Amino acid sequence: MIKLVIGSQWGDEGKGKIVDMMAEKADLVVRFHGGNNAGHTVVVNGRKFPFHLIPSGILQKKPIVIIADGVVIDPDVLMEEMAIFEKMGMNLKKKLVISPRCHLIMPYHKELDQAYENARGKNKLGTTKRGIGQVYADKVSYNGIRIYELLNWSLFVEKFKFQTEIKNKILMTFGVSPIKIETYLPIFKKLAEKIRPMVRNTFSIFQKAISQKKQILLEGAHGVMLDNSFGLYPYVTASNVIEGEVNIGSGIPSKKIEEIWGVVKAYTSRVGGGPLPTELFGKTADYIREKGYEYGTTTGRPRRIGWLDLPAVKFACQLSSVNRIAITKIDILSGLSQIKVCLSYKLNGKSSKGRSPPKGDGPLVQTFGRKIEFSHCGYLELEKLTPVYKILPGWKEEITKVRKFNQLPKNCQKYLKFIENYLKIKVKIISVSPEREASMYL
Ligand code: GDP
Ligand code: IMO
Ligand code: MG
Repeated sequence: MIKLVIGSQWGDEGKGKIVDMMAEKADLVVRFHGGNNAGHTVVVNGRKFPFHLIPSGILQKKPIVIIADGVVIDPDVLMEEMAIFEKMGMNLKKKLVISPRCHLIMPYHKELDQAYENARGKNKLGTTKRGIGQVYADKVSYNGIRIYELLNWSLFVEKFKFQTEIKNKILMTFGVSPIKIETYLPIFKKLAEKIRPMVRNTFSIFQKAISQKKQILLEGAHGVMLDNSFGLYPYVTASNVIEGEVNIGSGIPSKKIEEIWGVVKAYTSRVGGGPLPTELFGKTADYIREKGYEYGTTTGRPRRIGWLDLPAVKFACQLSSVNRIAITKIDILSGLSQIKVCLSYKLNGKSSKGRSPPKGDGPLVQTFGRKIEFSHCGYLELEKLTPVYKILPGWKEEITKVRKFNQLPKNCQKYLKFIENYLKIKVKIISVSPEREASMYL
C-alpha cells in the first residue's frame, strides 16, 4: 500500500503532524522533493521537532526513512538534523537512507538566492533564501553537484572549483564577496564520511518494497499553490508539488499510489509574497496568527493569514487526484463568532457564476470562457479578484481534547461537513492540536 500526503494550500498545513501519525504503521517514509525550505513540525509528549530534511516519520519505531532522489540537501542542515536523532540514541545507519542522486545546495546557491532577492527590491518574492531556486536551476542545466559526486572526492572538488569560478563572477556583479572553496571543503568532507554508510540505491529499495506490498508513506513538502508549474508563478517554489512529482522525485510510479491525502488547514496561511485572495488583516488575522502560532518553522517569519479558500483547495485536489482529506488546526477557529469561507470570486464586480469574464483582464482569464476558476488565473488576475464568501456561525468551546466527531460543537461539525460537501472528498482525519494523539480518524 502506497500513501501520499500533500499540502493543498500554500504550505504549513500540518503535513508533518499527519505524516508522523500515519508513519506508525509504515515500513518506509519518504521525502521526495524540496529541501530545507520545508519545515515540518511534529510534537510528541510536549517536545517539538522541526524537520527540514529528514522525513517526519523517523520518530516512529517501525519505519526506515528515506531522503529520495528529488530532495536537495544543505550539508549543514542535514548534519544538524542527524545529530538531534543520534543524541536521542537512534542508529541512523539502520534508520536513514539517502539517495546518491540528491543534489547538494552549495554555498553559492544560498548567496545567489539572497543576492537575487535583494536585487528585486520591492518586487522580492519572499523566498526562504535557502538556495532552492538556484540548486534546482543548476540541476536542470547540468551544473549540479550530487551526493554521488560527493562520494567521489576528487571529482567533487573539481566540480566545486569549476562552478565556484563561474558563480563568483555572477556574485561579484551583485557586489557580493566571492566564495572561497577552502572554507567549505572540510564541511563537505565531514558530510561525505558521515553519510557514506547511508547512501544507497533507492530505486531497488522501492521496487522490492512494492513487490512485497510494504507500506510506503510519501511525505510531500510545501503546498500545491507553490507548485512550480501550477502555483502562482513566480511566487512559487522550485520543485513540483503535485502528485506527479512522486514519480520524478523517487522513481515510485505514481500509478501505484492508492491513498492521496490532501492536508487542508481550516484557514489559509502563507509565508512570502504574491497574491492571497482571502487575506485577512487586523484583529481576526492577529487572533488566528497568535493562537495558531503562525510563524515560519524555517524562517520564523510571521505568516500571512486568510479565510479558507475552497476554490484554491479544490484546484489542488483536482491536480493531484486527492481522495482523502485531513483537516488540521480546526481548534484555532474556536472563539470566533463567525467564520467566512470563500466559495468563488468576483472579477471587476462580476461574479464567477456570471456569464463571461470581462475582456482585457489578462491572458489566462480571457482564454477560458464562462466561469472564473482558480485554475484560470495568473497572479495579475488573482490580485484583482474579490472573494465571494459564505458566512458560517462559529463556536465558543475549545476542542483540543475532543476525540469523536459527534462530540465537536454542532457549528464546528457543520463547518467540516461544508468543506467535505464542497470538495466532494471525504474528510478522514481531523486534527485538533499539535500533539500526536490529538486527532480523530473518521
Ligand atoms: P507543515 O509544513 O505542513 O508540516 O506544517 P508546519 O509544521 O510548518 O506548521 C503547522 C504548525 O501547526 C506546526 O506548528 C504544528 O505543530 C501545528 N499543528 C499541526 N496540526 C495542528 C492542529 O490540529 N492544531 C494546532 N493548534 N496546531 C497544529
Ligand atoms: P512546508 O513543507 C511555506 C515558499 C516561500 C516562498 C516561496 C519560494 O513547510 O509546507 P523557496 O525558498 O522555496 O525558493 O521560496 O515558497 N515556501 C514555503 N512556504 N511552507 C513551505 O514548506 C514552503 N516552502 C517554500 O515562503 O514564498
Ligand atoms: Mg512548514
